[in-house]
Amino acid sequence: MNASIPADSTAPLASSVALDSRRGLNRTIAAFFSVASRAYDQRTLQRVVYQPPQDEILDLLRRQGSRHIVDIGCGTGILTSRIAEELRPDTVYGIDMSPGMLARARERSQLVQWRNEPAEQLGLPNESVDAVITTTAFHFFNQPLALAEFHRVLKPGGLLAINAINLRARWAAPAQRLTGTRFSPAAAPSPQQMVDLITIAGFELVEQHPVRRPWYSRPWPDMLTVAVRR
Ligand SMILES: C[S@@+](CC[C@H](N)C(=O)[O-])C[C@H]1O[C@@H](n2cnc3c(N)ncnc32)[C@H](O)[C@@H]1O
Repeated sequence: MNASIPADSTAPLASSVALDSRRGLNRTIAAFFSVASRAYDQRTLQRVVYQPPQDEILDLLRRQGSRHIVDIGCGTGILTSRIAEELRPDTVYGIDMSPGMLARARERSQLVQWRNEPAEQLGLPNESVDAVITTTAFHFFNQPLALAEFHRVLKPGGLLAINAINLRARWAAPAQRLTGTRFSPAAAPSPQQMVDLITIAGFELVEQHPVRRPWYSRPWPDMLTVAVRR
């Protein structure tokens, strides 16, 4: 993993400072998930929390016919591997900061190109993919920097699908109390803030709605934002 600014970087000073100050936090989050990776694939947790947005994004990619796809903050690679196996695109990348999560992902599939790098500094070439997706991870990213990277690696007209926590949702406060996430290092944008963030980064909103969830997981407060790269 290399989260440092390359020597020849021409990134504006503000971005460099933001990325630099974020590095400590990224390391902590990556270390946390390396430990959490041991329990992460637990069936009920997956079914209730993580699977509904993954199903929805898989469906979206299927309808779009995307051929070069990158899953950012892919974790143990459950969705990334499903994309590779169920959609058989030309290229699928699974990218994550946490070595522990990626170690599990690598065991899951050899069809995916797994990469240990931060969302804020991807190693992929410019305009090299036609879909960037991310599930239950965006609230950990430095969002303006990550979105600038998503814009850079996407081809014009490419698809961006972000599944993120929505703290304005009806069940957000009770869910936070229950899970203790009120004091987490995560930063979840409101729906309008998300639209502002993606618009500033050069994307055009296509749709935004609460994730379609079965009744037993409906209190989980998250949304799906879909956009295209201008
Ligand atoms: C809650 S897990 C979600 C994993 C997977 N997307 C899913 O739906 O199951 C969040 C993941 O985001 C990763 N992550 C957090 N911050 C990151 C960053 N700045 N760059 C890349 N990955 C990051 C963590 O290591 C973790 O694996």
